[in-house]
Amino acid sequence: MEQTFIILKPSTITRALVGDVLTRFQRKGLRIAGIKMMQLDEDILRRHYAHLVDRDFFPDLLKSMMVTPVIVAVLSGKDAVAVVRSMTGATNCRKAAPGTIRGDFGMSGQENIIHASDSPENAAIEIERFFKPEEIFDYTLLTLPATYAPDEL
Ligand code: PPS
Repeated sequence: MEQTFIILKPSTITRALVGDVLTRFQRKGLRIAGIKMMQLDEDILRRHYAHLVDRDFFPDLLKSMMVTPVIVAVLSGKDAVAVVRSMTGATNCRKAAPGTIRGDFGMSGQENIIHASDSPENAAIEIERFFKPEEIFDYTLLTLPATYAPDEL
């Protein structure tokens, strides 16, 4: 099964939306393979957002990601990267479609609830950046045989 990486951003912590967001992924059929709370610092954020350091919004993004600890998680499932990205919605919550996480839970461009990996290659890099190998668990959901057809497993 494919793995993807998410960050529940500080505004999701302070707005007490952690359960609502995680529930959506679990109801969809994704498996939580790893999860923890951590305080991000400038060093890890500069690596995570290396492609954005020259953008004018970068200082604000940096600051907003350090306001409180975040929840980082690894989600596992068939085509998990694309599935999670489509559930996440457009970057700006005011433009994100209803039914998506950002479309349903947010009103901001910056405080946009969640980060989700945009490709399997970046998911692998981000998982390695935020998790030790022993923090990723390979258990089986009892719902698995009802979630997929046999030829999808
Ligand atoms: S872009 O412009 O195409 O590079 O942006 P995008 O890929 O949509 O977003 C990349 C990440 O930058 C965050 N972002 C912002 N943060 C703060 N302020 C503003 N104005 C802003 N615009 C984009 C956006 O949320 C993306 O972060 P992640 O954590 O990956 O969602």
